[in-house]
Amino acid sequence: DKGEYRHFMLKEIYEQPRVVKATMEGRLTDSSVLEQALGTDAADLLENVRHVQIIACGTSYHAGMVARYWIEELAGVPCSVEVASEYRYRKHVIQPDTLFLCISQSGETADTLAALRQAKEAGFRAALAICNVPGSSLVRESDLVIMTQAGPEIGVASTKAFTTQLTALLIFTLALARHNGLAPEKEAEIVKAIHLVPGQVNDVLALDGEIEELSKAFMDKNHSLFLGRGSQFPVAMEGALKLKEISYIHAEAYPAGELKHGPLALVDSEMPVVTVAPNNDLVEKLKSNLEEVRARGGELFVFADKEAGVKSEEGIHVMQIPSVHEITAPIVYTVPLQLLSYHVAVLKGTDVDQPRNLAKSVTVE
Ligand code: F6R
Repeated sequence: DKGEYRHFMLKEIYEQPRVVKATMEGRLTDSSVLEQALGTDAADLLENVRHVQIIACGTSYHAGMVARYWIEELAGVPCSVEVASEYRYRKHVIQPDTLFLCISQSGETADTLAALRQAKEAGFRAALAICNVPGSSLVRESDLVIMTQAGPEIGVASTKAFTTQLTALLIFTLALARHNGLAPEKEAEIVKAIHLVPGQVNDVLALDGEIEELSKAFMDKNHSLFLGRGSQFPVAMEGALKLKEISYIHAEAYPAGELKHGPLALVDSEMPVVTVAPNNDLVEKLKSNLEEVRARGGELFVFADKEAGVKSEEGIHVMQIPSVHEITAPIVYTVPLQLLSYHVAVLKGTDVDQPRNLAKSVTVE
């Protein structure tokens, strides 16, 4: 039931404050992670993990890419991320004491399951699943499971599944980091930041009208570029995927620093450039990337921390996002990009909940 909403996708976008909160519930105190809530043998399985191999597809893969930044920064454990359909068809080396982490909303994605089954034969320390469907194949075949509490996701384009995956992945990262010397004060700082996320997502949802206004600029465009740096690069990838899937506008994501290594050649007034720019130490670098785009007549759409000092001017449309902790920023910054692609699709009159050629769960190759 869509209730008051025009589409399931919009309903699911608006459910995010609640389902992100539900995914935190029982797993965090005010200032720490409750490791035993991740499973009675979680402590045993997470001790001595020397490498994390993440496998997923599509949006879930983007969640894995964000998690890699977290895992290497907070836990100091090397982490690799790969799409399942590539991983399963190449020779790969499983390093000793690898935690094999599959991320899947449905838990039935054929490539992800195949990669897990293959890796089992090669041997690893433990298989962890981040999944939204209880009793799914992935859940049944993993040693440790962290369920996302997104509830059923009906829209084919994944929204709340992604932000709850990120929430679960950050909680997992903190548990792993504990085994690898993360200071309790740092853990407390991040847990406090996680508790703020549902409210911050609500604040972003309040910008819906403004984002709808911005979306008009995309209606008659055929291409777009999404830029981000650091853990916001996968957010840019996810933003681009959403726009492609439901509005059928070609959208490509690049790490902002790669701009001058090629894609800048494409930038002109017909190529809107969307940038996610939270207030971290990369923002100054990003600002100079933005100048490069503007100098070439490109129209910029910047989602920026209101403290970051990025101002709207000729050719630059800035959406002020409430200040958020750098670690939790990818969760919050995903939401305006979801809304942007939703409104572009509605304006274009596409089938938002059921995009052409796509299925909700890809259970065959
Ligand atoms: C994008 C989307 C897909 C899925 C992908 C993996 O909006 O929904 O890219 O993320 O098919 O599906 P799961 O997570 O069920 O393994």
